[in-house]
Amino acid sequence: MTVKEIFETMDYGPAPESTAEARDWIAARDGRFGHFIDGAFTAPGDGFDSRNPATGDVLATLTQATQGDIDTAVAAARRAQPEWEALGGQGRARHLYAQARLLQKHARLFAVLESLDNGKPVRESRDIDVPLAQRHFYYHAGMAQLMDSELPDARAIGVCGQIIPWNFPLLMLAWKIAPALAMGNTVVLKPAEYTSLTALLFADICQQAGLPKGVVNIVTGDGAVGEMIVAAQVDKIAFTGSTEVGRRIREATAGSCKALTLELGGKSPYIVFDDADIDSAIEGLVDAIWFNQGQVCCAGSRLLVQEGIAGRFHDRLRARMDKLRLGDPLDKCIDVGAVVDPVQVQAITRMVDANTAGTMHRAAGVLPENGCYYPPTLIAGLSPADPLMQEEIFGPVLVSCTFRTPAEAVEIANNTRYGLAATLWTENINLALDIAPKLAAGVVWVNATNLFDAAAGFGGVRESGFGREGGWEGLAAYTRPRAKAKPLPRIAPMAGDGAPTDAIDRTAKMYVGGKQARPDGGYSRPVWGKPGLLGHVGLANRKDVRNAVEAAAGASAWSKTTGHLRAQILYYIGENLSARAGEFAARIDAMTGKRGGAAEVEDSIQRLFTAAAWADKHDGQVHGVPIRGVALAMKEPVGVIGALCADEAPLLGLVSVMAPAIAMGNRVVLAASGPFPLAATDFYQVLDTSDVPGGVVNILTGDHAEIAPPLAAHMNVDAVWSFSSSDLSGDIERASAGNLKRTWVNNGMATDWRQDHSRRFLQAATEIKNIWVPYGE
Ligand code: NAI
Repeated sequence: MTVKEIFETMDYGPAPESTAEARDWIAARDGRFGHFIDGAFTAPGDGFDSRNPATGDVLATLTQATQGDIDTAVAAARRAQPEWEALGGQGRARHLYAQARLLQKHARLFAVLESLDNGKPVRESRDIDVPLAQRHFYYHAGMAQLMDSELPDARAIGVCGQIIPWNFPLLMLAWKIAPALAMGNTVVLKPAEYTSLTALLFADICQQAGLPKGVVNIVTGDGAVGEMIVAAQVDKIAFTGSTEVGRRIREATAGSCKALTLELGGKSPYIVFDDADIDSAIEGLVDAIWFNQGQVCCAGSRLLVQEGIAGRFHDRLRARMDKLRLGDPLDKCIDVGAVVDPVQVQAITRMVDANTAGTMHRAAGVLPENGCYYPPTLIAGLSPADPLMQEEIFGPVLVSCTFRTPAEAVEIANNTRYGLAATLWTENINLALDIAPKLAAGVVWVNATNLFDAAAGFGGVRESGFGREGGWEGLAAYTRPRAKAKPLPRIAPMAGDGAPTDAIDRTAKMYVGGKQARPDGGYSRPVWGKPGLLGHVGLANRKDVRNAVEAAAGASAWSKTTGHLRAQILYYIGENLSARAGEFAARIDAMTGKRGGAAEVEDSIQRLFTAAAWADKHDGQVHGVPIRGVALAMKEPVGVIGALCADEAPLLGLVSVMAPAIAMGNRVVLAASGPFPLAATDFYQVLDTSDVPGGVVNILTGDHAEIAPPLAAHMNVDAVWSFSSSDLSGDIERASAGNLKRTWVNNGMATDWRQDHSRRFLQAATEIKNIWVPYGE
């Protein structure tokens, strides 16, 4: 017998993992669980069964939280928060470190309980879920330690409501709880109804570790409990789950001042170029789509293979699929275990059965007769627009199509409403590094897939949600600025009395695509100042907003320019403004009736110079991650940013927003100060003489309340910021739910424009993409 024959005929015997310890842990509580609130377990109440999906057996009975439970949990978290924050970074670091150690000590129990409850192969929970959860606590113990020295201006947000899904129950808990606690927040967390047991075990170890009561509260139940948490008196909602529910949460929290991060679905491309190491790419696919039965938000579920190798690649892939070992999740030899719940099997079946395109192959392995299983499936030969190429299946189903050129690969890869992750395989480093920046994704893996680490932020763009988990960038989601903002009074325009200062009727135009533009509706309003009538400005309508957004979207070349070039243009704007400083100062004084114009112009010039300085310095990072590689955290522009500029600082408010945004390569649509718009319409003359390409900066005038809704709802706008004195925060957040764009709104709070907030603006103007590349031995 040859070695090849031995390998081909070799059979694996079962290697079952004992479930005794996990079952004992459940039995010690009579199989009935209450919530963990204020440091203690509540008595079990009315609830529902939690089943083992591999067998259908009831594992435990859980309690469905009531409104009273949520109120008690939130109140406990609220009481505990000040003291937890006051404990300081070092005090909290010790607690997080203790939790990491206990996770390590009970690793086997956690892994087995997770596989029993979720159906994932124990090899995965043992080698991936549990170690990564530990790593998250260790890493964030370090972040707590460093908070005081490295983030002196940051403080905790307060009480965080956290809602997590069932695909990585313990790991998602760690992703949510570790950074929240590190930064001094307290939490009320709801695990998914199918998989709550490891969260309850975690509560148990919080008790053992002596975590102060109320810091972590775990409540169980279904989506209705999730809704109660969203509506509760919490300061932040962190959600991971479906895009549909994420969108509903965005709408429900609109205007509530609650901070929000959403980690949602994906349909991540897995691109194989014709020079790839085919065997590695196929082995990678096993991890991309059959890992956790494909129930992974960043699963490489959309295979794109270069045409020349497609036949060979698919043949080998089918052969590999036939070798996948399917069955009992508690068997250490198993590659593919059970799907979480019959509901999910039905959902997958429905989607796959509705498809008539392509050719289907199912893994040859025999599935157990009972339990929630779905066979590993490949549907090849689809076209990019087929529903299965667009919709998230969230099961072990891979769909594929081919491409001819790298440009076509990018086009197909980005032809999706999602933007969570992407994988690419090529032996050509030039090609890999050319393609990675072009992919619309928060994470890109080169010649590897599904790598995660606490040091590298995870999260998406587009409808995959916003916010990052992990890394320095993940901390922003759990902190707020230390300085307390004051309420912003509504600022009204000056009323019209006095005589016109100029006999000619001057109507300042808007500025769209580098050209002056008349308002579509033909309406304008007079602008009165201290000396009398100063002129008229156009009132932008929905069509003007659309034109401005189109112009900004069309100026995408700006995002590919170098920081060096953008810096030069920003210096040039600053210089040209400086040359007309007196004129601008007089204009501001005339409009506002105050004498702050000169200082405002001077600050604006400073702001332009600061943004120019940062344009080539607000760099990314290289994360050392514990694999044979590094993660390059690249700062990319957000895209098209729409902003309602401050009413009270007609020039400085606009420049403070525009300068950092365009410095980072964004294009902007700016709604000028409502009451004092003429500084903005004068300002585009400065832009015109400063080599700013058309479409990079677009300026609208008119009523913020008219401009905000179409701007926030527009699908080509990637972020909306509002510093308006008309509080449009709720309207903007609600309208943004359509394409889940990023929002940054002031909720009626004032910004001290004389202070330089450039760093915050730079942060909001960039999106971090983590590109994992092989590096070192
Ligand atoms: P889901 O989004 O409904 O559930 C996730 C969590 O949100 C659970 O804890 C659930 O109880 C809670 N929840 C449900 N409705 C809520 C509401 N209205 N307000 C607040 N919380 C709510 O996901 P589900 O139904 O479990 O799975 C459906 C599909 O969602 C899957 O087939 C998959 O496509 C996607 N999904 C994506 C995940 C991801 O990580 N991106 C994770 C889980 C599901």
